[in-house]
Amino acid sequence: MNFLLASGNAHKAEEFKELFSGILNISASPQTLEVDETGETYTENAFLKAKAYFDIYKIPTLADDSGLTVEGLPDILGVKSARFAPELKSYEDKCKLLLQMLSQKKSSRTAYFTCVLCFYLAPDEVFFFEGRVLGKIGDELRGSKGFGYDPIFIPDRKEDNGMSLAELPKWKNEFSHRAKASQTALHFFKESMDKSHKKP
Ligand code: IMP
Repeated sequence: MNFLLASGNAHKAEEFKELFSGILNISASPQTLEVDETGETYTENAFLKAKAYFDIYKIPTLADDSGLTVEGLPDILGVKSARFAPELKSYEDKCKLLLQMLSQKKSSRTAYFTCVLCFYLAPDEVFFFEGRVLGKIGDELRGSKGFGYDPIFIPDRKEDNGMSLAELPKWKNEFSHRAKASQTALHFFKESMDKSHKKP
C-alpha cells in the first residue's frame, strides 16, 4: 500500500518511513501545503491535513497531528503545541521558555505526547489511530536527536535514568506516541488484508 505523507516535517517523514518500513510505502509530498489547523482536537486537525493533500493529489494520504500536554500548564500546548511562542523561531528557545515557565510557577511537570494518525484512503474511507507516551518535563535540555520538545521530555521507562527522548532515538522509534499509533494502524490494516484474502 502506498501513502502520501501530508506533512512537510522531514523529521516526521523519517520516523514514519522507519515505522512502516517494508509494510506501507510512505512517500514525501512533492509540495508542502499550508493547512490551517483550525480544529479543536488532534483528530480534527489530522483530518484537515489528510483531506487537503487528498483533494489535490487524489491518492491515499497519511496525516498526523500531535502535541505535548504538560499538567502544570493546561492552557498552552496540547493541540496548540505547534503554535506555542511563535515569536521564537527555534525549538531550543521554545524548550527553554517552557522550562522557565514551569520553574517560575513550580507547577507539575507530568506530561505526555499524543499523536493521532489519519489514513485518508477515499472520502468514505477514513481511519484514525491514537497513541500516547507518558513522562515528565526535565530540568534542562538533553540530547541532540529527534526534534521539537524531545530534549526536555523524559519518558517513563523502567530504566529511570532521566534520559530525554532526544537521547533515545531507538526507544522512541518503538515506544513513542507516533510509534504506538502506527503499530495500532499496522495491526488494523494487516487484519483487514488477511480478512479480504480469506474471502471465498
Ligand atoms: P504538528 O506538526 O501540527 O503535529 O505539531 C506538533 C507539535 O508538537 C510541534 O510543535 C512538534 O514539534 C511537537 N511534537 C510532536 N511530536 C513530537 C515529537 O515526537 N517530539 C517532539 N515534539 C513533538
